[in-house]
Amino acid sequence: MAAAETPTFAGAPEGSRPLHVAIVMDGNGRWAKQRGLPRPLGHRAGVESLRRTVSAAPGLGIGWLTVFGFSTENWSRPAAEVAELMALPKRYFETDLGRLEREGVRVRVIGQREGLSQDLVRLVEDAQARTAHNTVFNLNIAFNYGSQADITAAARRFAEEVAAGRRDPSDLDETMFAGLLATAGAPPPDLIVRPSGEQRLSNFLLWEAAYAELVFQDVLWPDYGEEHLKAALAEFAARDRRYGAIVADDVLAAG
Ligand code: IPE
Ligand code: MG
Repeated sequence: MAAAETPTFAGAPEGSRPLHVAIVMDGNGRWAKQRGLPRPLGHRAGVESLRRTVSAAPGLGIGWLTVFGFSTENWSRPAAEVAELMALPKRYFETDLGRLEREGVRVRVIGQREGLSQDLVRLVEDAQARTAHNTVFNLNIAFNYGSQADITAAARRFAEEVAAGRRDPSDLDETMFAGLLATAGAPPPDLIVRPSGEQRLSNFLLWEAAYAELVFQDVLWPDYGEEHLKAALAEFAARDRRYGAIVADDVLAAG
């Protein structure tokens, strides 16, 4: 079993800028409702926000952006809405993939392929293949993703390796386990942002969020843009990240 090299928490960026930002894109439905529009128009406006945010991120020192587009729980929405959400990657890649490719963005879609149409799987695999060589910026799109399912699948794969005699239970540590997740190879998120006023993770990056700062913003995703991202970064910069340790001054005081 090849566990991808995953940077550990020691690899977190120095200073006050997050290397990896993750965003729960939320509030599309409420945005549409406020305007008396059908929900699909909220989702389409949300694609514009994604476009704005991806454009702004590299200039703000961000190297990795992971966005939550469709959760495994979203299948319980009405069929028409699910169909609209399933059409969003195509809508986004049709207009943006060429530019992402040229600008050095590596695109990965994390989540289960089962349940997606063959066309969508092809579209996703093509986007990944076309941008696989890029190194300027990393865009991870969580689509048909659920963190508990991802963690469970990783545990199952490791158990199968043990059952087959290729691994010993004592081989497993946090670094190896992280390498079995869909986010293998990405640094852990430093900052997780959720707009729309909701304050929960909703099954997003549960393992990876161990030391992430959480910022909740009272803006609906279709209204999100560079100024909101900058505000989230300012809040991040004001946080005191200690990774369970104590700050240098307190070490001196304790000594
Ligand atoms: C985000 O907007 C899109 C997805 C979760 C797929 P919502 O559709 O959740 O919008 P609200 O929460 O109803 O406003
Ligand atoms: Mg929502």
